[in-house]
Amino acid sequence: MTVVYHNGNLCSINMAKNKSKQVSKVSRRVATTDDIEVSTYLEIAKEISGVQPAALKEAVSDAEREAIIVIDFGSQYSMLIARRVRECQVYCELLPHDTPWEKIAPLNPRGFILSGGPASVYDSNVPLAPAYVYGSHLPVLGICYGMQAIAKQLGGKIAPGTKREYGHAVLHLSANDSPLFADLPASTPVWMSHGDKIEKMPPGFTALAHTENSPIAVMGNKEGIFGLQFHPEVAHTPEGKTILKNFVYRVCGCKGNWTIGSFINDGVTRIKQQVGKGKAICALSGGVDSAVVATLIHRAIGDQLTCIFVNHGLLRREEVERTFNVFRLNMGMNIIYVDASGRFLRRLKAVTDPEMKRKIIGEEFIRVFEEEAKKVGKVDFLAQGTLYPDVIESASSGSKASAKIKTHHNVGGLPAKMKLKLLEPVRDLFKDEVRQVGLELGLPEEMVWRQPFPGPGLAIRIIGEVTKEKLEILRSADFVVMNEIKKAKLYRQLWQSFAILTDVRSVGVMGDYRTYGYLVAIRAVTSEDAMTADWSRLPYDVLARISNRIVNEVPEVNRVVYDITSKPPSTIEWE
Ligand code: XMP
Repeated sequence: MTVVYHNGNLCSINMAKNKSKQVSKVSRRVATTDDIEVSTYLEIAKEISGVQPAALKEAVSDAEREAIIVIDFGSQYSMLIARRVRECQVYCELLPHDTPWEKIAPLNPRGFILSGGPASVYDSNVPLAPAYVYGSHLPVLGICYGMQAIAKQLGGKIAPGTKREYGHAVLHLSANDSPLFADLPASTPVWMSHGDKIEKMPPGFTALAHTENSPIAVMGNKEGIFGLQFHPEVAHTPEGKTILKNFVYRVCGCKGNWTIGSFINDGVTRIKQQVGKGKAICALSGGVDSAVVATLIHRAIGDQLTCIFVNHGLLRREEVERTFNVFRLNMGMNIIYVDASGRFLRRLKAVTDPEMKRKIIGEEFIRVFEEEAKKVGKVDFLAQGTLYPDVIESASSGSKASAKIKTHHNVGGLPAKMKLKLLEPVRDLFKDEVRQVGLELGLPEEMVWRQPFPGPGLAIRIIGEVTKEKLEILRSADFVVMNEIKKAKLYRQLWQSFAILTDVRSVGVMGDYRTYGYLVAIRAVTSEDAMTADWSRLPYDVLARISNRIVNEVPEVNRVVYDITSKPPSTIEWE
């Protein structure tokens, strides 16, 4: 294990290797009973021997490998279908409708699901299922547009609906013996969203269920090809998961051997093969994605991995120590720690424009990272925490084109010009699956469940110029927010909760004195994916405690406000 220091010690803690056993004792912080963040941190620091992960399920052999392929016709729910199938412990990939068979065959598909989509099948030039979907004789489940595609391609007839059917409907089963309907009640609510209707089913198909407005709400044939007019993947169809499970297990014959444990075992084997005797580097940020990636790769190749942890001085209180402790003390990784805070602050001097701040931080990060990477010697691989939604998003060409709102800086996405081969071991996973991998690998819950934190850090939560003093004020205020939100057990329910230091000052009174202090804003939002967000209706008493504590514990602040705007029209971060 190597630890490289730059610009002095790591904060107030003596991190010298031979003194690692004393770390929890030498911390100068005194934990109070309600100081949750601190106590969690101290707990982690005490775990010097490391957390041992649970025993993992054996990796599946190639012969046992099974997958369901979702052919994407562009529905807003397509990704959700893949999620639901994976919840049944069956590996599932969402692929564009023009994916060649050569790309699908190695996945060992056991069935296809055709997604919904915005097109109308009777229009010209609309996407349809590739020939291999029917030619493979594997089971097929068409959902909404996918059902209409089946009808059209196999000889049925579709007509434009006179009115769009959108929302709740009640599904009545007429064929209780269909494997798709095992364990289902005779009537169940479903979620409809379609304009077109099937007028005539293809030869060999029968109607298996109906709703008030759709006489053919479900159709199927003896070859295991089914169509659903409703969306089983959404929460508004309460029995939807049972239907998908029935399709995957009873129709496709899947065993359900895809678990997080088997993913880890497979991943470790794959990384070993890919890297061989080569060397890899990874930028650590303290966030869950880079943490999981580093831990997984470390498990596979040990000291062939070097992590570079750039402290840009824009992190929250104790973030550096906590991250460092987990990786160095618990995991025993090679870490290069760089305290580059002075350098970043100098470059940010007098900068007030939000985009300029982001640009400077992004550029400086790459520069520091490259300088440090050079010191590692010859490196072959750059590890990145690319997730499945990123992969899908970049595959759906052009559909997400939108005006640039903010230049995002992500430590994972660096730096292209180094010409390293990419190592992206979690690119097939959704965020919550990454969290499960993290837990199974023994990462502390506090890190695995951490709320998202932007790459440019506190710099984009300080309105106006970023200075050392302002960073300290914001850290203190932010610490109170985090602490109170955790105490109220709201931390995991919220997408993010944090403080912003505005450049507004206002008059206040404390005791008999006039004060002229900073205005701190609190932001707490709920969100599924950060694309949209709603401001959280935090209980008044939680807001009151946060406000009281901030004005009492942070002398430079005399006023606290709560941000009650959603995204859109606001964004989550203020800059
Ligand atoms: P906005 O402010 O655009 O943020 O609504 C959406 C989500 O992205 C996070 N965010 C970033 N994450 N690098 C990151 O890694 C960035 O530069 C960045 N800017 C914003 C933000 O915290 C929220 O979760």
